[in-house]
Amino acid sequence: MARLLMIPGPTPVQPEVLLASALPVISHTSPEFDEIHSDALRMLGKVFGTKGRVVVLPGSGSLAMEFAARSIVERRGEKALVLKAGHFGGYLARALKAAGAEVEVLEAPIGRGFTAGDVREALEKSRASIIAFQHVETSTSVANPVEELAAEAKKAGAKVLVDGVASIGGMDMRMEDWGVDVCFTGSQKALSTPPGLAIIAYSSKASYLLEREGEGIYFDFKSISREMESTRNYHITPAVNLVVALRESLKRILSEGLEARYRRHKALARALRAGLEAIGIKLVAEEGFRADTVTAAWLPEGVQWPKLYAEMKARGVEIAGGLGELKGRIFRIGHMGEVDANDVIATLASLERSLKSLGYKLELGAAVAAAQEVLAEEGL
Ligand SMILES: Cc1ncc(COP(=O)(O)O)c(C=O)c1O
Repeated sequence: MARLLMIPGPTPVQPEVLLASALPVISHTSPEFDEIHSDALRMLGKVFGTKGRVVVLPGSGSLAMEFAARSIVERRGEKALVLKAGHFGGYLARALKAAGAEVEVLEAPIGRGFTAGDVREALEKSRASIIAFQHVETSTSVANPVEELAAEAKKAGAKVLVDGVASIGGMDMRMEDWGVDVCFTGSQKALSTPPGLAIIAYSSKASYLLEREGEGIYFDFKSISREMESTRNYHITPAVNLVVALRESLKRILSEGLEARYRRHKALARALRAGLEAIGIKLVAEEGFRADTVTAAWLPEGVQWPKLYAEMKARGVEIAGGLGELKGRIFRIGHMGEVDANDVIATLASLERSLKSLGYKLELGAAVAAAQEVLAEEGL
């Protein structure tokens, strides 16, 4: 097991959070759990920037995506436009299609996200009533400018669905202010909680989407929504201990302060990128579209992913490879949640020695020095 987990989720979880989940299991319909659950929902509202409804279900980010998609599609054949900037854009298209939407996909070249102009042009042609995209596309580390894209979608009267799996808790989200109707995440990324919770948030304007009965049991929005009002309105069993852990982590997140937390993420991302570039590593995401939570980089000529992974792991750091068409071509470093400046330095130091051992030419210490400059500049 590597000592330092630097993959783009799941991310390291603080001992206090893990310990909270290790308390004896309590009844999901007890007043005690109801209070913990409501507390978690209230704090999630702050993180998502919404005064509307928040839903927490046992499941991964993909369940959150399916739930969000099924709730936002109000009739069969409703037109949805997916802005695809990588692997998970494909998931959004699949989820919306499965929810009954007629899906059109607009694909960006690798490393690029979308601009307001792209959305304006696409919506003129497609007349979609739903527009869906990733805040951070984890497979390429591309970040989309949510506020600008949502503003453009609103002008055209479209509903906005944002995948915040790789951003919520690490990058700013203001659903109410920006006009994001539905946004979702999983517990395992920048919320610094173990995997297993699907989280879906609605703006106050879009909360009516949960008044419908929907289909089946998980997608019976009305009953799920009643359970979110009070867990005494049992519909499905909540993941009790994970919700306890989530509440603990949210308390820590809010006590760090959202602005401070986002600033930390931005600074660490900048330091990591400066370190990589100082040793000639090329980043996948173009300037202006770079995420604060994850960084994808091209594998240098002659360096094979399985070997780099093994060398890094032998030095105590676990990083991630490429997904889909980028498998074997890139590597990805996660820097979200509880990651700190020392973790970034340790990762770059291990990367320098790992790459050197694989024959890549570099000056040892150059990546670390460049990152140190940024960290010092940021007061970290
Ligand atoms: C942006 C994004 N969307 C969706 C998912 C799917 O989430 P999960 O793997 O938790 O099902 C991921 C997973 O990494 C992701 O990064």
